[in-house]
Amino acid sequence: MFESLLPAPPDPILGLTEAFKEDPNPAKINLGTGIYTDDNGKTPTLDCISRSEKILAEKSTSGGGYLPMTGLAEYDRSVVELLFGADHEMVQSGRALAAQTPGGTGGLRVAADFIARTNPGAKLWMSNPTWANHNGIFTAAGLELGTYPYYDQESRTLAFDEMVTALKNVPAGDVVLFHACCHNPSGMDPSPAQWEELAELAAAQGFLPLFDFAYQGFGEGLVEDAFGLRAFAAKGIELLVASSFSKNFGLYNQRVGAMTVVAGAAEAAQNAMSHVKLCIRTNYSNPPAHGARLVATVLADAELRTIWEQDVATMRNRINSMRRLFVETMAAKTDKADFSFVATQRGMFSFSGLSKEQVLEIREKHSVYIVGSGRISIAGITSANIEPLCNALASVL
Ligand SMILES: Cc1ncc(COP(=O)(O)O)c(C=O)c1O
Repeated sequence: MFESLLPAPPDPILGLTEAFKEDPNPAKINLGTGIYTDDNGKTPTLDCISRSEKILAEKSTSGGGYLPMTGLAEYDRSVVELLFGADHEMVQSGRALAAQTPGGTGGLRVAADFIARTNPGAKLWMSNPTWANHNGIFTAAGLELGTYPYYDQESRTLAFDEMVTALKNVPAGDVVLFHACCHNPSGMDPSPAQWEELAELAAAQGFLPLFDFAYQGFGEGLVEDAFGLRAFAAKGIELLVASSFSKNFGLYNQRVGAMTVVAGAAEAAQNAMSHVKLCIRTNYSNPPAHGARLVATVLADAELRTIWEQDVATMRNRINSMRRLFVETMAAKTDKADFSFVATQRGMFSFSGLSKEQVLEIREKHSVYIVGSGRISIAGITSANIEPLCNALASVL
């Protein structure tokens, strides 16, 4: 059976990481993958996680049987509290319920299977552009896909009017995917006023919002970054959220995420969860325990939680300072392009505006790795590589 198979196309982002690893040039720079690195180019283990590991080791909780299909109960509770605030009526009443999933990708796939199962005719609308894996995840679940305009490459701004016009044509029952903050790949988010307008639109149109929340705390702050989904929740509409703790806890390889259902009442949320459980059972049965235990331990302990909030602020501030440094350094080197927009955007990514040819040239001549769309991972910039990076960029403009 396998002899006739041709190789599948490489993943556009993870394939680039493989090429980067194979490059023998010691001065190579990776702005491809979405992994946070510190100023030494290392992906740190957060202080709160090291302490949480110690607490768990002392408790020796790592053994035991399977977790429930929806994962650790205390973790699930912490997830909805982080999304909406611990005192929120939705959290207290039980009409917002989370299921622990293997990473944000797992949360998105569970959401996709849940939509396909409970609302088989629904079409899912994604921003153009969006994270490359969205297409694959929702297609794999059998959903029909559409796109709405999001980013204007010319003016480097949000194409808000075009977005609203397109969403006004989305019928009730369809699903609209939003990036809750730190839009990947553009780095452009709606303003609070624009989120309010989108929430009103969702309420009027009757479409189901699905939020991809992979970067809580990387934009403006843990609470500020939840503004969009909280604006929707305030309208009393149903919604879904896929959370990832890969970035904000630095737990990439532990696979820690969640899928949250917000319904009109607790009973409807429980009924929805019964379908979510079936999607999980027939996919991976139940999630892995350790990463969720680490996160739940941090969030339940006042001291560890404060340390985590500082850890997240440190990562956010570093990214934002690299954004400013990049703009200043490029401005000093060339007047062929204006990169000032990079400092106004948020999260790990921005579009550099480089063409496919320039992306290839900078890789071949300077070992600078950027994905074909020109998306750059700001978290890959350091005070040591900023000069060679900007020299290389300026040379291909
Ligand atoms: C927008 C977006 N959604 C989801 C994910 C997936 O996160 P995880 O690594 O937790 O599966 C990512 C990761 O890069 C992302 O950028």
